[in-house]
This record gives sequence, C-alpha cells and structure tokens, in this order.
Amino acid sequence: MRRVVVLLAVLWVCDAVKFGQLCSGNPSNSRRTSDRWGQGHYGARRVNGPHRGLDIKCRDGAAVYAPFNGRLNGKLTVYTDPTKAAINEGINLSGQGLCFKLFYVRPDRTSGTVRKGQRIGTMLPMQRVYPGITSHVHVQMCDKSDPTPYF
Ligand SMILES: *[C@@H]1O[C@H](CO)[C@@H](O)[C@H](O)[C@H]1NC(C)=O
Repeated sequence: MRRVVVLLAVLWVCDAVKFGQLCSGNPSNSRRTSDRWGQGHYGARRVNGPHRGLDIKCRDGAAVYAPFNGRLNGKLTVYTDPTKAAINEGINLSGQGLCFKLFYVRPDRTSGTVRKGQRIGTMLPMQRVYPGITSHVHVQMCDKSDPTPYF
C-alpha cells in the first residue's frame, strides 16, 4: 500500500509541471510538425546533429508568455552566424525545479520572477531568415534532455 502511495506521489510530481500557453494565437501549444526546413520534434535530424529541442508554433511578432511560475535567468544568443541576426535572441528561465531556454524570442526583460501566463517577450521575425518555415519558439532544456513530457 505504501509503495502504491509513493508511486502515485511520484507520478503526480512528474505530471505537475506542464507548460502553460507559450505563444499568443496558439492556446494548445501545438507543435511544428514538418516543413521545407525540417521537423520540429526532439531528436529530429539537423545538419549538426539531432535537434535538442521541441518547436512550438508561434507567429512572427506574437506575444510570448511565461509557461510556468519561475525566474528569468538572462538573455541568450542562439547563433554565431551573422545572417541569422534577426532571430538571434532567447531567454533562459527556470522554475519548479526545471531550467529551460526559449529561442527566437526577444525578452521584455531578462531577470526577476514571472507568473505563468505573464508576457515575457516577442517572437522574432523567423520568416525573414527561414522563408516558408512554420515559425516557432524552440524550447530546450538547459541539460538538453527531452522537453516533450512537459507539454
Ligand atoms: C540558465 O540559467 C541557470 C540559472 O542561472 C544557469 O545555472 C544555467 O547554466 C543557464 N543555462 C544555460 C544553458 O545557459
């Protein structure tokens, strides 16, 4: 009996962290599937090794929201390639024991605490760099493990 209780508690904890809406216009966090530039799932093929994130659809210029209560840990750059400068921003955020990075987002601010659903930034103009792509926020865990279970 005790074992069952422990198991249920573990399941509950694992289940507890779920991303809230990440991007305006995409209330269900629907994912990028496949387009002329590739696929959006974790582990998808990329030129420089497997895709270490999960791509969540987000239109260029859309508002990006905090997916859980947490803290902003600063801005990040995604690329060294200057031809991708238009989308070369992101943010590191943590909360509920997890650390994530969101790519292609211009943060409104880079420190302090945020509440789930609070606006944290703007989706950058991805179509300018990747014409015809499904514009998206790339969600990557700081340890590069699979973020899919949190969606
Ligand atoms: C993100 O921020 C956390 C907390 O400051 C830090 O420990 C971690 O190294 C950062 N991760 C990455 C990949 O930048």
